[in-house]
Amino acid sequence: MADITLTGPGGCNGRPSFYITTPIYYVNAKPHLGTAYTTVLCDVQARYRRAKGFDVKFLTGMDEHGQKVEEAAREHGMGPKEWCDSQVPAFEELWRTLEISNDDFIRTTEPRQLRAVSYLWERMRESGYIYKGSYDGWYCVPDETYFTENQVHKADEERHSEGQHLCPDCGRPLTRVQEESWFFRLSAFQDRLLGLYEEHPDFVMPSFRMHEVKSFVEGGLQDLSVSRTSFDWGIRLPFDEGHVTYVWFDALLNYMTAVGYGQPGEGAAAELARRWPAQYHVVGKDIIRFHCVIWPAMLMAMGEALPEHVFAHGFLMVRNDETGQGEKMSKSRGNAIAPQEVIDLLGVEGYRYYFMCDVIPGEDGAISLSRMEQVYNADLANSWGNLVSRALNMSSKYFGGMTPADDPTWASRQSPLRDIACGIEARYSEHMESFEYVAAKDVIMELVHAANHYVEDSAPWTLAKDPSRSGELADVIRNLLESIRISAHLLAPFMPQTSVEVLRRMGATGELDCDDLATACEWGQLAGGVEVTKGDALFPRLAAKG
Ligand code: MSP
Repeated sequence: MADITLTGPGGCNGRPSFYITTPIYYVNAKPHLGTAYTTVLCDVQARYRRAKGFDVKFLTGMDEHGQKVEEAAREHGMGPKEWCDSQVPAFEELWRTLEISNDDFIRTTEPRQLRAVSYLWERMRESGYIYKGSYDGWYCVPDETYFTENQVHKADEERHSEGQHLCPDCGRPLTRVQEESWFFRLSAFQDRLLGLYEEHPDFVMPSFRMHEVKSFVEGGLQDLSVSRTSFDWGIRLPFDEGHVTYVWFDALLNYMTAVGYGQPGEGAAAELARRWPAQYHVVGKDIIRFHCVIWPAMLMAMGEALPEHVFAHGFLMVRNDETGQGEKMSKSRGNAIAPQEVIDLLGVEGYRYYFMCDVIPGEDGAISLSRMEQVYNADLANSWGNLVSRALNMSSKYFGGMTPADDPTWASRQSPLRDIACGIEARYSEHMESFEYVAAKDVIMELVHAANHYVEDSAPWTLAKDPSRSGELADVIRNLLESIRISAHLLAPFMPQTSVEVLRRMGATGELDCDDLATACEWGQLAGGVEVTKGDALFPRLAAKG
């Protein structure tokens, strides 16, 4: 399989490149908990990889073409570009609020995308994998997806629906499309795609999602209509001006555009060589076929390397507290929770922690405001926040506003916290690398809980009364602060500001600007005799509503 290349790109100054992307979001909707979920999920990975020394590029952006956008603009009495421009700031603002550390933000209406898509069409024409024909079939405008007669009938039967045909995926009414179109010979890629899944079982992650992808491809692939003639809002084909590019053909290419594909100049070529293929495309399970079937086939046709992994997460569902069941979030059901509502309740850091550390990324997650409060109070107010405040208060009280003075032999002395902290980074990293954030959080919380118990067991307030035990007291406080220092490093991808603040209060400002997490987490690096700041509670307890 000569055209399947999955080797990683070269890095920068010896640092390996790590390129991670979110889907580009449709410009028609406002950002919501679901789109924010994917974006924070990627942000945590990007921050983690930076701490591990990777040269990270983290891309997000907006999907701005297509029939749906053209129609919405008209409804709002605007031109399509004007409509897009009015919608994009809400995304940019929410990403800033949620501390999203993206390195680039792409919009498919930018000139760089126009250049890349035109270049793609030329390559496609040379490849012989496109041909002109006419499309006659069903189309879901909200999803911008084609459906075959068979798929539609099957869905109608399952739903017992008569009369109007509904989208097999989202259930909204389908539109009949009959128009001249260019087709992509997707059917020619069935064997190569199956070969890819066979040789690279981790191309689709988590592994249980591979099954869905494989059986879809095994069921046979039809050629895909990749240009439209019945509306205008899209990128025109360079060799057939009456056609605009099918929005998914355009959208998927954004991942390569952002690293220089189809752009002039040597800089762009070098960037492409350095960054492509991407390590991860992170997507929701709803768009897995586009990313695991159509996109790799497009890349094979173009003769380009394939991304290393597509990580598909589950959907956030709203937990109905009466039935205990998860329900689809929607405005019409009245169960949608706005991101701002959660931010108001938990703060930004609590928001990030809840979604990343309580919802298992591969699976559907049932979320609820009451669960959010519970997790916040238990993990952040009572455990992490409480530990930090107790340790800093005691250090300040017993050591004149300082951390205990340096002692070169302290770190080699046995302590239950040292035992847990030893090797903690490796255990945590194993989970972080495969997006197992809940498991990674459990590893950190083991140390945090143990440290809280250690306070009770070692009773520093008793030691402080006995001057002959001052050495013991200093060790207890050092062990606590050192556990906090390490936990702050490990929690930083989830709650970056809190970790900065915790380390600042310990007199360790700047500690997080490191790119060697394993070394930073080695036991025994606590700075002795530096000023500590007590500060307000990091996570004030939430009073139960009711
Ligand atoms: N524009 C396309 C993607 C093109 S990528 C080349 C698109 N956009 S979207 O705005 O509809 O975003 C879909 C994505 O939003 C999902 O894949 C998922 O990442 C996220 N989510 C939308 N609703 C969600 C939930 N209820 N739960 C979790 N994430 C969900 O599709």
